[in-house]
Amino acid sequence: MKKVKIKSPANIAFIKYWGQRNKKLFLPYNDSFSMNLSLCYTILEIEKIEKPKIKKLYVKDYEKDNFEIKTDESFKKVINFYHQARKFLKVEKDYGFIIYSFNSFPKKAGIASSASFFSALALGFSWLFEKYLDQKNLSILARLSGSGSSCRSIPDGFSWWHKGKKINDSYAVSIAPPSYWNLVDLVLILNKEEKKISSLEGHQNAETSNLFKYRLLSLEKRIKEIKKAFLKKDFTYFGYLLEEEAISMHSIMMTQKPPLFYWSGKTIELIKKIIEIRKIGLEGYFTIDAGENIHLICQKKDEEKFLDFFKKQKEVLKIIKNYPDNGTKII
Ligand code: DP6
Repeated sequence: MKKVKIKSPANIAFIKYWGQRNKKLFLPYNDSFSMNLSLCYTILEIEKIEKPKIKKLYVKDYEKDNFEIKTDESFKKVINFYHQARKFLKVEKDYGFIIYSFNSFPKKAGIASSASFFSALALGFSWLFEKYLDQKNLSILARLSGSGSSCRSIPDGFSWWHKGKKINDSYAVSIAPPSYWNLVDLVLILNKEEKKISSLEGHQNAETSNLFKYRLLSLEKRIKEIKKAFLKKDFTYFGYLLEEEAISMHSIMMTQKPPLFYWSGKTIELIKKIIEIRKIGLEGYFTIDAGENIHLICQKKDEEKFLDFFKKQKEVLKIIKNYPDNGTKII
């Protein structure tokens, strides 16, 4: 076989990864927990080439018709990851490759586009090197791409990333299949532009926030509680913790040096609306990654009502409706 095609989902974190205890090995300070998204994914095709000099990346961006060759920062990241993967998998031979990648959603907008891309690429490189890794090692490899959260896109459904202490014990496992809980993630796109500061850059300064140590302390309890709420399918408590966690992470971002404000005025307006609409009995909770777009988490029974509501809001440009989904797969 000369080519392989892979599909990998983005994921939304319920407990977030922010800050790296070890910046070379991409080891996080805390465990994190996420759900794979059915309609936010990357399709990546990788072709093996005999000449090692030929290494190419073509990307078709969201809402674009054609693939474009990349020679910028994104290509450099792919090459860095290729060498990282070779080292990790102890591969002597240098390979050539051509990659075609397509994203079903806007990239760098706080919807974990790099997580879906790098998790797909981890599987792609392991195929290229003829190493058939188990899920644990695939998750470790994805983490080493530098997009740490990509390790959570490898397993199916709901993923738990154990922070670990060493290169080989920090990886994600599935704690429930997609069918476990019929949650819905409505991604509310408020801005399709790419964010200016990447998560990778942001992580570097997390510790400079005076609040960081308190975040880590409060996380000990929140992590235990969210696991309990998840196991009991207690949506109300789960949602409360989800919002508390998103606000906690963004407080760090806003107080680290230099400060990072991912939220826009539209984000705040929508947060207020979500809180207001709960008062009249429509139960949904927000969470936000490194961007201004909002993820509204609700139960399937309420999805239509929420869709009707958000379609009428002037801040919302587009809505992507996601259900829990499988992890990274060859298709
Ligand atoms: C805010 O370093 O994994 O999304 O490379 O942009 O995917 P990307 O970021 P990464 O950090 C993720 C930060 C986060 C929280 C999370 O997903 O846990």
